[in-house]
Amino acid sequence: MKQDALNVAMIGSKFMGRAHANAYSQAGRFFDLPRPVVMHTLAARNLAQTRQFAQRWGWLHASDHWQAVVRDPQIDLVDVGTPNHVHMEQAVAALEAGKHVACEKPLAGTLDDARAMLLAAKRRPKQHTFVWYNYRRCPALALAYQLARAGKLGRIYHVRACYLQDWAGPDAPLVWRFQGKVAGSGSLGDLCAHSIDTARFITGDQITEVEGAVLETFIKQRAVLSDAAGGEISGKGADAKTRKGKSTVDDVVLFIARFKGGAVASFEASRLATGYKNNNRIEIHGDKGAIRFDFERLSELDWYDATADDRLAGWTTINVSNPGVANGGHPYAHAWWPTAHAIGYEHTFINQVADMVQVLSGSKPVVPLPDFADAYETQKVLHAVTESARHRCPVKLSQIK
Ligand SMILES: NC(=O)c1ccc[n+]([C@@H]2O[C@H](COP(=O)([O-])OP(=O)(O)OC[C@H]3O[C@@H](n4cnc5c(N)ncnc54)[C@H](O)[C@@H]3O)[C@@H](O)[C@H]2O)c1
Repeated sequence: MKQDALNVAMIGSKFMGRAHANAYSQAGRFFDLPRPVVMHTLAARNLAQTRQFAQRWGWLHASDHWQAVVRDPQIDLVDVGTPNHVHMEQAVAALEAGKHVACEKPLAGTLDDARAMLLAAKRRPKQHTFVWYNYRRCPALALAYQLARAGKLGRIYHVRACYLQDWAGPDAPLVWRFQGKVAGSGSLGDLCAHSIDTARFITGDQITEVEGAVLETFIKQRAVLSDAAGGEISGKGADAKTRKGKSTVDDVVLFIARFKGGAVASFEASRLATGYKNNNRIEIHGDKGAIRFDFERLSELDWYDATADDRLAGWTTINVSNPGVANGGHPYAHAWWPTAHAIGYEHTFINQVADMVQVLSGSKPVVPLPDFADAYETQKVLHAVTESARHRCPVKLSQIK
Protein backbone atom coordinates (compact mmCIF):
# COMPACT_ATOMS: atom_id res chain seq x y z
CA MET A 1 0.00 0.00 0.00
CA LYS A 2 1.30 3.47 -0.89
CA GLN A 3 2.09 5.82 1.99
CA ASP A 4 0.97 9.46 2.09
CA ALA A 5 2.05 11.68 -0.76
CA LEU A 6 5.31 13.57 -0.40
CA ASN A 7 4.66 17.26 -1.04
CA VAL A 8 7.75 19.00 -2.42
CA ALA A 9 8.57 22.70 -2.60
CA MET A 10 11.54 23.80 -4.67
CA ILE A 11 13.44 27.11 -4.50
CA GLY A 12 15.27 28.10 -7.71
CA SER A 13 14.17 27.65 -11.29
CA LYS A 14 17.10 27.80 -13.68
CA PHE A 15 19.74 25.14 -14.36
CA MET A 16 19.22 22.95 -11.29
CA GLY A 17 15.58 23.99 -11.17
CA ARG A 18 15.08 22.22 -14.48
CA ALA A 19 17.17 19.18 -13.48
CA HIS A 20 15.28 18.75 -10.20
CA ALA A 21 11.82 19.47 -11.62
CA ASN A 22 12.40 16.86 -14.31
CA ALA A 23 13.56 14.39 -11.66
CA TYR A 24 10.50 14.88 -9.43
CA SER A 25 8.21 14.46 -12.42
CA GLN A 26 9.94 11.34 -13.75
CA ALA A 27 10.90 9.35 -10.64
CA GLY A 28 7.45 7.89 -10.00
CA ARG A 29 7.07 6.88 -13.64
CA PHE A 30 10.21 4.72 -13.72
CA PHE A 31 10.64 3.61 -10.10
CA ASP A 32 8.04 1.89 -7.92
CA LEU A 33 8.07 4.54 -5.23
CA PRO A 34 6.54 3.81 -1.82
CA ARG A 35 5.07 7.36 -1.78
CA PRO A 36 3.77 9.42 -4.67
CA VAL A 37 5.70 12.66 -5.20
CA VAL A 38 3.61 15.81 -5.54
CA MET A 39 5.30 18.84 -7.14
CA HIS A 40 3.50 21.23 -4.83
CA THR A 41 5.12 24.68 -4.96
CA LEU A 42 7.89 26.37 -6.89
CA ALA A 43 9.53 29.50 -5.42
CA ALA A 44 11.89 31.82 -7.26
CA ARG A 45 12.47 35.54 -7.51
CA ASN A 46 10.51 36.74 -10.52
CA LEU A 47 6.82 35.85 -10.11
CA ALA A 48 5.87 35.98 -13.79
CA GLN A 49 8.79 33.75 -14.81
CA THR A 50 8.20 31.47 -11.85
CA ARG A 51 4.56 30.98 -12.86
CA GLN A 52 5.61 30.20 -16.41
CA PHE A 53 8.21 27.68 -15.23
CA ALA A 54 5.72 26.10 -12.81
CA GLN A 55 3.18 25.63 -15.57
CA ARG A 56 5.70 24.15 -17.99
CA TRP A 57 7.15 21.67 -15.47
CA GLY A 58 4.00 20.74 -13.59
CA TRP A 59 4.26 22.56 -10.25
CA LEU A 60 0.80 23.14 -8.73
CA HIS A 61 1.64 26.54 -7.20
CA ALA A 62 4.18 29.31 -7.79
CA SER A 63 5.48 31.95 -5.41
CA ASP A 64 8.11 34.67 -5.17
CA HIS A 65 8.19 34.41 -1.38
CA TRP A 66 10.24 31.36 -0.38
CA GLN A 67 10.00 32.29 3.33
CA ALA A 68 6.24 31.65 3.26
CA VAL A 69 6.62 28.53 1.14
CA VAL A 70 8.99 26.77 3.55
CA ARG A 71 6.53 27.43 6.38
CA ASP A 72 3.54 26.05 4.48
CA PRO A 73 2.21 23.15 6.63
CA GLN A 74 1.40 21.17 3.48
CA ILE A 75 5.07 20.92 2.45
CA ASP A 76 7.13 17.88 3.52
CA LEU A 77 10.40 18.37 1.62
CA VAL A 78 12.08 21.67 0.68
CA ASP A 79 14.54 21.55 -2.22
CA VAL A 80 17.15 24.33 -2.26
CA GLY A 81 18.45 24.92 -5.81
CA THR A 82 19.73 28.49 -5.42
CA PRO A 83 23.23 30.02 -5.47
CA ASN A 84 25.48 29.02 -2.58
CA HIS A 85 25.25 32.17 -0.43
CA VAL A 86 21.52 31.59 0.27
CA HIS A 87 21.67 27.84 0.97
CA MET A 88 22.15 28.40 4.70
CA GLU A 89 19.30 30.87 5.21
CA GLN A 90 16.87 28.79 3.16
CA ALA A 91 17.86 25.35 4.46
CA VAL A 92 17.90 26.44 8.10
CA ALA A 93 14.50 28.15 7.75
CA ALA A 94 13.08 24.97 6.22
CA LEU A 95 14.56 22.77 8.94
CA GLU A 96 13.20 25.08 11.64
CA ALA A 97 9.79 24.87 9.98
CA GLY A 98 9.95 21.09 10.42
CA LYS A 99 10.73 20.11 6.81
CA HIS A 100 13.12 17.62 5.30
CA VAL A 101 15.66 19.43 3.11
CA ALA A 102 17.44 18.51 -0.13
CA CYS A 103 20.12 21.15 -0.80
CA GLU A 104 22.29 21.67 -3.83
CA LYS A 105 26.05 21.33 -3.54
CA PRO A 106 28.40 22.59 -2.29
CA LEU A 107 26.58 22.58 1.04
CA ALA A 108 27.29 26.34 1.31
CA GLY A 109 29.60 29.10 0.11
CA THR A 110 31.50 29.24 3.39
CA LEU A 111 32.44 26.82 6.15
CA ASP A 112 30.62 29.01 8.70
CA ASP A 113 27.37 28.73 6.73
CA ALA A 114 27.87 24.99 6.31
CA ARG A 115 28.42 24.59 10.05
CA ALA A 116 25.21 26.49 10.80
CA MET A 117 23.38 24.09 8.48
CA LEU A 118 24.97 21.08 10.14
CA LEU A 119 23.96 22.33 13.59
CA ALA A 120 20.40 23.06 12.44
CA ALA A 121 20.16 19.51 11.08
CA LYS A 122 21.52 18.08 14.33
CA ARG A 123 18.83 19.97 16.26
CA ARG A 124 16.22 18.20 14.10
CA PRO A 125 17.34 14.55 14.07
CA LYS A 126 13.93 13.27 12.88
CA GLN A 127 14.10 15.36 9.72
CA HIS A 128 16.23 14.11 6.86
CA THR A 129 18.76 16.18 4.98
CA PHE A 130 20.16 15.39 1.53
CA VAL A 131 22.75 17.07 -0.68
CA TRP A 132 22.69 16.87 -4.46
CA TYR A 133 26.04 15.23 -5.04
CA ASN A 134 24.21 13.56 -7.89
CA TYR A 135 27.20 11.88 -9.53
CA ARG A 136 27.06 9.21 -6.81
CA ARG A 137 23.99 8.06 -8.69
CA CYS A 138 25.74 7.47 -12.01
CA PRO A 139 25.31 3.71 -12.21
CA ALA A 140 29.04 3.31 -12.96
CA LEU A 141 30.10 5.19 -9.82
CA ALA A 142 27.48 3.36 -7.75
CA LEU A 143 28.99 0.10 -9.05
CA ALA A 144 32.49 1.34 -8.15
CA TYR A 145 31.18 1.98 -4.62
CA GLN A 146 29.76 -1.56 -4.46
CA LEU A 147 33.02 -3.07 -5.74
CA ALA A 148 35.03 -1.15 -3.13
CA ARG A 149 32.67 -2.27 -0.33
CA ALA A 150 32.99 -5.87 -1.53
CA GLY A 151 36.78 -5.60 -1.12
CA LYS A 152 37.48 -5.80 -4.85
CA LEU A 153 39.86 -2.82 -4.77
CA GLY A 154 41.66 -4.08 -1.66
CA ARG A 155 43.92 -1.60 0.09
CA ILE A 156 43.60 1.71 -1.71
CA TYR A 157 46.89 3.36 -2.65
CA HIS A 158 46.03 6.17 -4.96
CA VAL A 159 43.12 8.39 -6.08
CA ARG A 160 43.38 10.65 -9.13
CA ALA A 161 40.44 12.94 -9.87
CA CYS A 162 39.88 15.81 -12.23
CA TYR A 163 36.85 17.79 -13.32
CA LEU A 164 37.48 19.90 -16.42
CA GLN A 165 35.28 22.36 -18.31
CA ASP A 166 36.12 25.27 -20.64
CA TRP A 167 33.07 27.56 -20.65
CA ALA A 168 34.64 30.31 -18.48
CA GLY A 169 36.84 32.04 -21.07
CA PRO A 170 37.25 35.84 -21.25
CA ASP A 171 33.82 36.25 -22.94
CA ALA A 172 31.88 34.67 -20.05
CA PRO A 173 30.21 37.48 -18.07
CA LEU A 174 30.38 38.03 -14.34
CA VAL A 175 27.55 35.65 -13.35
CA TRP A 176 27.23 34.67 -9.70
CA ARG A 177 29.68 31.80 -10.23
CA PHE A 178 32.53 34.35 -10.44
CA GLN A 179 31.50 36.29 -7.34
CA GLY A 180 33.24 35.07 -4.19
CA LYS A 181 30.56 36.50 -1.89
CA VAL A 182 27.88 34.49 -3.69
CA ALA A 183 29.65 31.31 -4.80
CA GLY A 184 32.30 31.03 -2.08
CA SER A 185 34.83 29.69 -4.58
CA GLY A 186 35.09 28.98 -8.30
CA SER A 187 36.05 25.70 -9.89
CA LEU A 188 36.82 24.45 -6.36
CA GLY A 189 33.23 24.48 -5.05
CA ASP A 190 31.57 24.21 -8.43
CA LEU A 191 33.46 21.21 -9.83
CA CYS A 192 36.11 19.86 -7.46
CA ALA A 193 33.52 19.48 -4.68
CA HIS A 194 31.94 16.72 -6.80
CA SER A 195 35.31 14.97 -7.18
CA ILE A 196 36.01 15.18 -3.45
CA ASP A 197 32.57 13.74 -2.68
CA THR A 198 33.03 10.96 -5.24
CA ALA A 199 36.46 10.04 -3.85
CA ARG A 200 35.15 9.98 -0.27
CA PHE A 201 32.08 8.00 -1.35
CA ILE A 202 33.91 5.25 -3.26
CA THR A 203 36.85 4.82 -0.89
CA GLY A 204 34.63 5.12 2.21
CA ASP A 205 37.55 7.06 3.66
CA GLN A 206 38.10 10.60 4.93
CA ILE A 207 40.63 13.14 3.71
CA THR A 208 42.81 14.05 6.69
CA GLU A 209 45.28 16.47 5.14
CA VAL A 210 45.67 18.80 2.19
CA GLU A 211 49.42 18.72 1.52
CA GLY A 212 49.50 21.60 -0.91
CA ALA A 213 47.11 23.53 -3.15
CA VAL A 214 47.12 26.07 -5.95
CA LEU A 215 44.14 28.31 -6.77
CA GLU A 216 44.57 30.52 -9.82
CA THR A 217 42.39 33.27 -11.28
CA PHE A 218 43.50 33.87 -14.86
CA ILE A 219 40.65 36.11 -15.98
CA LYS A 220 40.41 38.85 -13.39
CA GLN A 221 37.87 41.17 -15.04
CA ARG A 222 34.59 40.13 -16.62
CA ALA A 223 31.71 41.96 -18.26
CA VAL A 224 28.92 42.86 -15.84
CA LEU A 225 25.38 41.71 -16.68
CA SER A 226 22.45 43.82 -15.60
CA ASP A 227 21.40 40.97 -13.25
CA ALA A 228 24.64 39.15 -12.56
CA ALA A 229 23.39 37.27 -9.50
CA GLY A 230 20.67 35.59 -11.52
CA GLY A 231 22.68 35.04 -14.70
CA GLU A 232 22.82 31.56 -16.07
CA ILE A 233 25.84 29.46 -16.92
CA SER A 234 25.14 29.89 -20.62
CA GLY A 235 25.26 33.71 -20.52
CA LYS A 236 27.60 35.10 -23.20
CA GLY A 237 29.62 38.29 -23.27
CA ALA A 238 27.63 39.56 -26.23
CA ASP A 239 24.63 40.12 -23.94
CA ALA A 240 26.65 41.90 -21.36
CA LYS A 241 27.12 45.59 -20.83
CA THR A 242 30.66 46.88 -21.44
CA ARG A 243 31.22 47.68 -17.75
CA LYS A 244 33.70 45.25 -16.19
CA GLY A 245 33.79 43.82 -12.69
CA LYS A 246 36.27 41.77 -10.74
CA SER A 247 36.13 37.99 -10.68
CA THR A 248 36.90 36.98 -7.11
CA VAL A 249 37.07 33.18 -7.45
CA ASP A 250 39.52 30.61 -8.78
CA ASP A 251 39.38 29.54 -12.42
CA VAL A 252 41.63 26.54 -11.70
CA VAL A 253 42.41 24.46 -8.62
CA LEU A 254 45.04 21.77 -8.04
CA PHE A 255 45.71 20.01 -4.76
CA ILE A 256 47.29 16.95 -3.20
CA ALA A 257 45.70 15.16 -0.25
CA ARG A 258 46.08 12.25 2.15
CA PHE A 259 43.33 9.88 3.32
CA LYS A 260 43.00 8.44 6.83
CA GLY A 261 43.53 4.91 5.47
CA GLY A 262 46.89 5.91 3.96
CA ALA A 263 45.93 6.57 0.34
CA VAL A 264 47.30 9.65 -1.41
CA ALA A 265 45.28 11.66 -3.92
CA SER A 266 45.57 14.36 -6.52
CA PHE A 267 42.65 16.61 -7.49
CA GLU A 268 42.40 19.07 -10.34
CA ALA A 269 39.46 21.18 -11.54
CA SER A 270 39.23 23.92 -14.12
CA ARG A 271 36.65 25.96 -15.99
CA LEU A 272 39.40 27.00 -18.44
CA ALA A 273 40.48 23.53 -19.61
CA THR A 274 40.20 24.32 -23.30
CA GLY A 275 38.67 21.40 -25.17
CA TYR A 276 36.95 19.78 -22.20
CA LYS A 277 33.20 20.33 -21.73
CA ASN A 278 32.25 18.18 -18.75
CA ASN A 279 35.19 15.90 -18.20
CA ASN A 280 34.53 14.50 -14.73
CA ARG A 281 37.08 11.72 -14.24
CA ILE A 282 38.25 9.57 -11.37
CA GLU A 283 40.70 6.71 -11.10
CA ILE A 284 41.28 4.66 -7.96
CA HIS A 285 44.08 2.11 -7.59
CA GLY A 286 44.08 -0.58 -4.90
CA ASP A 287 46.25 -3.65 -4.38
CA LYS A 288 43.47 -5.98 -5.63
CA GLY A 289 42.01 -3.88 -8.42
CA ALA A 290 41.42 -0.48 -9.93
CA ILE A 291 38.55 1.54 -11.40
CA ARG A 292 38.44 4.45 -13.79
CA PHE A 293 35.45 6.55 -14.84
CA ASP A 294 34.89 9.43 -17.22
CA PHE A 295 31.48 11.15 -17.18
CA GLU A 296 31.71 11.76 -20.93
CA ARG A 297 31.30 7.92 -21.16
CA LEU A 298 28.82 7.83 -18.32
CA SER A 299 27.44 4.33 -18.82
CA GLU A 300 30.89 2.73 -18.64
CA LEU A 301 33.14 1.73 -15.77
CA ASP A 302 36.66 0.54 -16.51
CA TRP A 303 37.74 -2.19 -14.13
CA TYR A 304 41.13 -3.85 -13.66
CA ASP A 305 41.33 -7.10 -11.68
CA ALA A 306 44.82 -7.38 -10.20
CA THR A 307 44.03 -10.86 -8.85
CA ALA A 308 43.33 -12.30 -12.32
CA ASP A 309 45.50 -14.84 -14.12
CA ASP A 310 48.44 -12.84 -15.58
CA ARG A 311 47.39 -13.86 -19.09
CA LEU A 312 43.98 -12.29 -18.60
CA ALA A 313 45.08 -9.12 -16.82
CA GLY A 314 43.91 -5.98 -18.56
CA TRP A 315 41.33 -3.21 -18.29
CA THR A 316 37.73 -4.32 -18.83
CA THR A 317 35.05 -1.86 -19.90
CA ILE A 318 31.73 -2.68 -18.24
CA ASN A 319 28.57 -1.18 -19.71
CA VAL A 320 26.79 -0.52 -16.39
CA SER A 321 23.22 -0.91 -17.63
CA ASN A 322 22.39 -4.56 -17.14
CA PRO A 323 19.19 -5.11 -15.10
CA GLY A 324 20.60 -8.60 -14.43
CA VAL A 325 18.99 -11.81 -13.34
CA ALA A 326 21.17 -13.59 -10.80
CA ASN A 327 23.00 -10.90 -8.80
CA GLY A 328 20.45 -8.12 -8.92
CA GLY A 329 22.09 -6.44 -11.88
CA HIS A 330 23.74 -3.05 -12.05
CA PRO A 331 22.63 -0.25 -9.74
CA TYR A 332 19.48 1.54 -10.98
CA ALA A 333 19.37 -0.49 -14.22
CA HIS A 334 16.09 -2.20 -13.21
CA ALA A 335 14.26 1.14 -13.52
CA TRP A 336 15.49 2.03 -16.99
CA TRP A 337 15.90 0.45 -20.38
CA PRO A 338 17.21 -2.87 -21.72
CA THR A 339 20.99 -3.30 -21.43
CA ALA A 340 23.07 -0.65 -23.26
CA HIS A 341 20.05 1.52 -24.09
CA ALA A 342 21.89 4.46 -22.61
CA ILE A 343 20.76 6.89 -19.93
CA GLY A 344 22.08 10.46 -19.41
CA TYR A 345 22.83 13.35 -17.06
CA GLU A 346 19.22 13.86 -15.96
CA HIS A 347 18.95 10.26 -14.79
CA THR A 348 21.44 10.88 -11.98
CA PHE A 349 18.91 13.35 -10.53
CA ILE A 350 15.97 11.03 -11.10
CA ASN A 351 17.88 8.21 -9.37
CA GLN A 352 18.51 10.58 -6.46
CA VAL A 353 14.84 11.51 -6.12
CA ALA A 354 13.95 7.80 -6.09
CA ASP A 355 16.52 7.18 -3.34
CA MET A 356 15.37 10.20 -1.31
CA VAL A 357 11.78 8.96 -1.43
CA GLN A 358 12.96 5.54 -0.23
CA VAL A 359 14.71 7.13 2.74
CA LEU A 360 11.68 9.32 3.51
CA SER A 361 9.58 6.15 3.52
CA GLY A 362 11.87 4.31 5.94
CA SER A 363 13.74 2.24 3.34
CA LYS A 364 17.34 2.19 2.18
CA PRO A 365 18.70 3.96 -0.90
CA VAL A 366 20.55 1.92 -3.55
CA VAL A 367 23.82 3.54 -2.40
CA PRO A 368 24.22 6.03 0.46
CA LEU A 369 22.93 9.57 0.05
CA PRO A 370 25.04 12.41 1.40
CA ASP A 371 23.36 14.30 4.26
CA PHE A 372 24.46 17.62 5.76
CA ALA A 373 26.96 15.88 8.08
CA ASP A 374 28.55 14.07 5.14
CA ALA A 375 28.62 17.16 2.92
CA TYR A 376 30.12 19.15 5.80
CA GLU A 377 33.17 16.85 5.62
CA THR A 378 33.54 17.75 1.93
CA GLN A 379 33.11 21.44 2.83
CA LYS A 380 35.98 21.12 5.33
CA VAL A 381 38.19 19.87 2.51
CA LEU A 382 37.18 22.87 0.36
CA HIS A 383 38.11 25.14 3.26
CA ALA A 384 41.44 23.35 3.81
CA VAL A 385 42.29 23.74 0.12
CA THR A 386 41.62 27.48 0.30
CA GLU A 387 43.74 27.82 3.44
CA SER A 388 46.54 25.71 1.99
CA ALA A 389 46.67 27.80 -1.19
CA ARG A 390 46.46 31.09 0.71
CA HIS A 391 49.24 30.26 3.20
CA ARG A 392 51.23 27.95 0.87
CA CYS A 393 51.37 25.24 3.52
CA PRO A 394 49.85 21.84 4.36
CA VAL A 395 46.56 21.95 6.30
CA LYS A 396 45.35 19.13 8.54
CA LEU A 397 41.58 18.64 8.55
CA SER A 398 41.76 18.10 12.32
CA GLN A 399 42.69 21.82 12.60
CA ILE A 400 39.31 22.72 11.08
CA LYS A 401 36.26 22.55 13.29
N1 LIG B 1 24.58 18.99 -8.78
C1 LIG B 1 25.11 19.56 -9.86
O1 LIG B 1 25.65 18.90 -10.71
C2 LIG B 1 25.01 21.05 -10.01
C3 LIG B 1 25.14 21.65 -11.26
C4 LIG B 1 24.97 23.04 -11.37
C5 LIG B 1 24.73 23.80 -10.23
N2 LIG B 1 24.67 23.19 -9.01
C6 LIG B 1 24.39 23.97 -7.79
O2 LIG B 1 23.01 24.36 -7.83
C7 LIG B 1 22.82 25.63 -7.22
C8 LIG B 1 22.12 26.55 -8.22
O3 LIG B 1 22.90 26.61 -9.40
P1 LIG B 1 22.22 26.85 -10.83
O4 LIG B 1 23.25 26.43 -11.82
O5 LIG B 1 20.89 26.21 -10.87
O6 LIG B 1 22.10 28.43 -10.80
P2 LIG B 1 21.18 29.32 -11.77
O7 LIG B 1 21.80 30.66 -11.74
O8 LIG B 1 20.97 28.63 -13.06
O9 LIG B 1 19.77 29.35 -10.98
C9 LIG B 1 19.66 29.91 -9.69
C10 LIG B 1 18.20 30.06 -9.31
O10 LIG B 1 18.11 30.55 -7.98
C11 LIG B 1 17.23 31.70 -7.95
N3 LIG B 1 17.69 32.56 -6.86
C12 LIG B 1 18.85 33.24 -6.77
N4 LIG B 1 18.91 33.90 -5.60
C13 LIG B 1 17.75 33.64 -4.96
C14 LIG B 1 17.22 34.03 -3.72
N5 LIG B 1 17.87 34.85 -2.91
N6 LIG B 1 16.00 33.55 -3.37
C15 LIG B 1 15.32 32.74 -4.19
N7 LIG B 1 15.77 32.32 -5.39
C16 LIG B 1 16.96 32.78 -5.76
C17 LIG B 1 17.41 32.31 -9.32
O11 LIG B 1 16.30 33.15 -9.60
C18 LIG B 1 17.45 31.06 -10.19
O12 LIG B 1 16.14 30.58 -10.41
C19 LIG B 1 24.22 26.09 -6.80
O13 LIG B 1 24.41 25.76 -5.46
C20 LIG B 1 25.15 25.27 -7.68
O14 LIG B 1 26.42 25.07 -7.09
C21 LIG B 1 24.79 21.85 -8.90
